[in-house]
Order: sequence, then C-alpha cells, then structure tokens
Amino acid sequence: MKVRNILVALLLGASSLGASAQASDVSFLSGSHCIVRMAEGSRYIMLPVQENAEICNIKVIAGNNLVRTIEVRLAVDNVDYYVPFDLSEYDGKKVLFDIHVNGNSRLTGGIKDHVCWRDMKYTDTVEINAGEPFRPVYHHAPEWGWMNDPNGMFYKDGVWHLYYQLNPYGSQWGNISWGHSTSKDLVNWTNEGVALVPDGHGMVFSGSSVVDKDNTAGFGKDAIVAFYTSAAESQTQSMAYSTDDGKTFTRYEGNPIIVADIPDFRDPHVFRHEQTGHWIMILAAGQEMRIYSSANLKDWTYESSFGKEYGSHAGVWECPDLFELPVEGTNEKKWVLVCNINPGGPFGGSATQYFTGTFDGHKFTCDTKPEVTKWMDYGKDHYAAVSFDNAPDGRRVMIAWMSNWQYANQVPTVQFRSANAIARDVYLFRDKGVDYVGSRPVAEMTAMRGDAVVSKKATLGRLSVKNMFKAPSGAYEIDLAMAPQDGATVKMMLSNQKGEYVTIVYDGNMGTLSFDRRQGGDKSFSELFPAVTTAPVHGKLTSLRIFVDKSSVEVFGNDGRAVMTNLVFPAEPYNTLTINSDKKTTVSSLKVYPLIKK
Ligand code: FRU
Repeated sequence: MKVRNILVALLLGASSLGASAQASDVSFLSGSHCIVRMAEGSRYIMLPVQENAEICNIKVIAGNNLVRTIEVRLAVDNVDYYVPFDLSEYDGKKVLFDIHVNGNSRLTGGIKDHVCWRDMKYTDTVEINAGEPFRPVYHHAPEWGWMNDPNGMFYKDGVWHLYYQLNPYGSQWGNISWGHSTSKDLVNWTNEGVALVPDGHGMVFSGSSVVDKDNTAGFGKDAIVAFYTSAAESQTQSMAYSTDDGKTFTRYEGNPIIVADIPDFRDPHVFRHEQTGHWIMILAAGQEMRIYSSANLKDWTYESSFGKEYGSHAGVWECPDLFELPVEGTNEKKWVLVCNINPGGPFGGSATQYFTGTFDGHKFTCDTKPEVTKWMDYGKDHYAAVSFDNAPDGRRVMIAWMSNWQYANQVPTVQFRSANAIARDVYLFRDKGVDYVGSRPVAEMTAMRGDAVVSKKATLGRLSVKNMFKAPSGAYEIDLAMAPQDGATVKMMLSNQKGEYVTIVYDGNMGTLSFDRRQGGDKSFSELFPAVTTAPVHGKLTSLRIFVDKSSVEVFGNDGRAVMTNLVFPAEPYNTLTINSDKKTTVSSLKVYPLIKK
C-alpha cells in the first residue's frame, strides 16, 4: 500500500483550549489504520473525542518500544470534548501513536476525513470546564474522564488518600486505572494524577490499601501496600507498594498473588485483624465473599466463604469490606460485612447491602436469618461503598460512588462522568433487637456551611420558603428539626422556576421516608432513571439533613438512620422549598446553609 503523509494545520478551537496550533503528522496505512508522530516540546497532546464514535486502539510507541495501549473514541465528525495524553514521561524519545480505528471505516471510504486528525493539538496545561452545569461544587469528582468505584483509601499523617477507578481518556468506562486525590478534610480534594495504569496483567480494577506500620511485607515501615484486581481475559489479584505515601507505586514482582478459576473474582479488601495479628483479605467471588489470611501481605491462605443463601443474590457481589463497630447505646460490638451488588438493588441496578454478625479472624457468621437483606442507603445512586484504612479516632469513614450501572455511562455530563457521595461516618444502632448501619455526613461537612440564608420555626400547615439563595449556587444544606404528630405525612418539595421538582415525603403511618425524582429535571438519557426510592425510618422522623449539589440530593433522616442518595439533573438549581403536613407538625428549626468550598 502506498503510504500517504499529510500535515494538517490546526485551526479549530485551538485558542479556546490554550493549545498551540501545531501540525499533526499523520500517515495513513489503510482505510482503518494510521500512525501519528508526536511533535516535540509540549507536555500534552489533546485528543478530540466523540462519545458515539467507534473505539480506536492506540499503541503508544516511544523510542521504538510499545509502552502503552489505550482506547479512545477519536472524533469522526464532531468533537464533544478533549482528553489529554501526557507525553512528558517519554521525554527525549520519539513518540508515535499507531492507531487502529474499529468499525467499518475501511469499507466506507476510510478514516482520512475524520476530524480527529485535524483537531489534535498540543498544550502544556489542561483546562477544565468548570462551567459544566452538573459539575458538583463540593463532591469529589475527576477533573476529566470517567470515574467509578472509590479504591485503596487510607489515612496517614493528617491526609486522606482516595484512589478511584478512572478512565483518563474518555467519559465512559474503559482504560481502567487508579486516579488519586488527597484531602485534609474529606471535602476539598487535590488531584494527584494517575497512580496505577494498566500493565501486562490487565486493567487495574477495584481494591484497597493498608499502611504497613510494622513492615510485615518488607517494603519498609509505613509503606502503603495496595491490592487490586488485574483484569484482562481473567481476573487475578495483584499488589503494589509505595514508599512515598501513596504518590507513586512499584508493582510487586510476584504478581498475581491470588488466582482462581472463577470469572467474577475481584475487589480485594485488606485490613489488619488486631485480635489474631493477621492480615485479612475479603474478596468477591461470583455471588459469595471469600476470606483469606496472611502474615506478610504476599502469601495468602484461604480461610472461609460467606454468602450462600444470604441476602440478595439478584446480581454479582462486588467491592466487599469487613470491619467492627460498637453498637451505639450498648456495650457490644459487631462486625459489618459490606457487599455491594449489581444488579439487584432495591430500586434496580446497583446498591450496597450489608450483613451484621461476628468475625473470629477466620469466618464471618451472620446474626440474622439468611432471607434478611439490609441496605446501607436507600437511594438509587450509592454504590461500591468502602471504608478508609487507618482512619483516626476510631472512625469508620466510607465513601460511595454516586451513580448506578444502569445509566452511569449516559448521565448528561460532558468532560467528566460521575462524582462520589459525601464521606460518611458509619455506626451501628439497634432497633427492635436488630442491628443496622447508620451513616452520618462526616463532621467536616459542617465547616463548609456559610451563614444560614434561611432560619425559621413554624407549625405546619404549610411553609413555603422561596428563593433560598440570592445568587443561586445550587449547593446547600437544609437542616431541619421537627415533631410530627402521630401518623402525620410531611411533604417537602424542592423546585425551580422551570417547573422541575423533587419531593421528600415522610409517611408517619408507614414509618418511611421517600424521594421522588420523576419530575426532577433531565431524565431523557435513560428510562431507568426516573424513580421513587423509599427508606425505613426506624422511629418517628425528628431530624432531616438534605445536601443538595448541582446534580445530587443526599437525604439523611434521623441522624443517618434513613439515608437516600440520588442524582438529579435540573435545568437550573432548585431554589424553592415547600413543606406541608396533613396533621400538626412543629418545625422547631429550619436552616438553609450555602455550602462553600474553602
Ligand atoms: C464495581 C466494579 C468492580 C470492578 C470495577 C471495574 O462497580 O464492577 O467490581 O472492580 O467496577 O471498574
């Protein structure tokens, strides 16, 4: 085949991204194959993406060696957004992309006219579109690209480390790596870049990290040891360690450390079991959880399995966790086994179920009948919840991915997709002899409060608070204390001037709290998105905290006994609150605080 070389001048949109107009040097090798030689001197090449384009397989070749393979939906006829590819680590080497475009382009005239060749551009800084209407104000979200599960979370020396499933090269799932963010307060996060990229064993699926205080693995005192699933044709467990507090990782040379002949075999969660002095790993294997033990974090012994016939089995079990908590109001402690499940959640798709019981360092024993199913959050958008290792002051802090596999790839954001729910301190409470997990927004959230813009007391009838914000930011907390009469139904509505609204209803007869987002805004992207979710309240509803951000509402009833996390996509922020009750209900305090990122 005759090789044609073209140089395409960059004109379109280059200035808006602060990118330099340089030429792309493309050589077409067939109707579906080309090479692009990278220009020298810039840190990033910005790759134009079209969400519904075919995937292109890109081999990154530096100094004649294959150094990466990535998949990018390079734009065919229009550019939805750009993703940066960092060229700096190949400094001094000639870099080229060997690109194969999937699909039938070869039959339909080839790839030469695809706009991506013209629109690739070079830059030294990546600009984030902070103006995206659904980009959260105070929730953790990737600056660009796709995010799912939180991973490898640990606390050390005053810093909370959060890793997460990341596609740096598009806003849909793929190229799964671990992104890394840090925070001193669980609210304001700093992007630390990508910590783990796919290697010869596959993509880097979910997992956990521990702080190895006693150097049991021999990587050094206080080394951070991360466990993850290597996902390629099969799923195996791998480890990596960091001696610079989680910034950079070295892969363990003996990977994979655990293998099995099971297709869904993933998401290792490791913790120190103080009572036996061993490390424990809990791992999802199909529809059960497997427990392993180790003295040195490298060699693992199978101990037991949990799950057969327990709880919901309507989907695959994923992202486990296992920890002990005191039962508030008693002198007892219980173990909580967290089992995220997809599909099979109470309102369809993904959700977080859990079991309470005992754990002796070898075996988890559930304290309820097999048919009992408990959910940590009764919204539609709370998944892959796991906890931090080494949290201070006996805290058990969890973060969940705020989406649902039913529509996560379709939600109407552009340069990024998905945020995490606000961090929560979990605790156990006992109701009618049964133990449940409650979730409180971390106390650090309170420091985000600006001065209350609404402060009222009322006896309902009807209370309507219009225009909650002079300058609507769409990021606020409603804090409410009330005393409903027995059997009262209290209805709260958050609405905007476009006629969009969500309702939160307390039904005193049923003892439930529900959230209805069917009229909440854009729902066109998935017929599975409109929903009413319902949570048991465990007692009369006396307090409610509602966290609203640009595209989410998180409801915490009765100090975290009834929790619902739901996404919403309103055309403009809800700025009106209406509350009414069919029986006498005293609102002793209603406060609305703007939440301001420090
Ligand atoms: C859960 C999950 C995990 C897996 C990861 C892949 O959302 O399916 O089980 O490790 O996502 O991104």
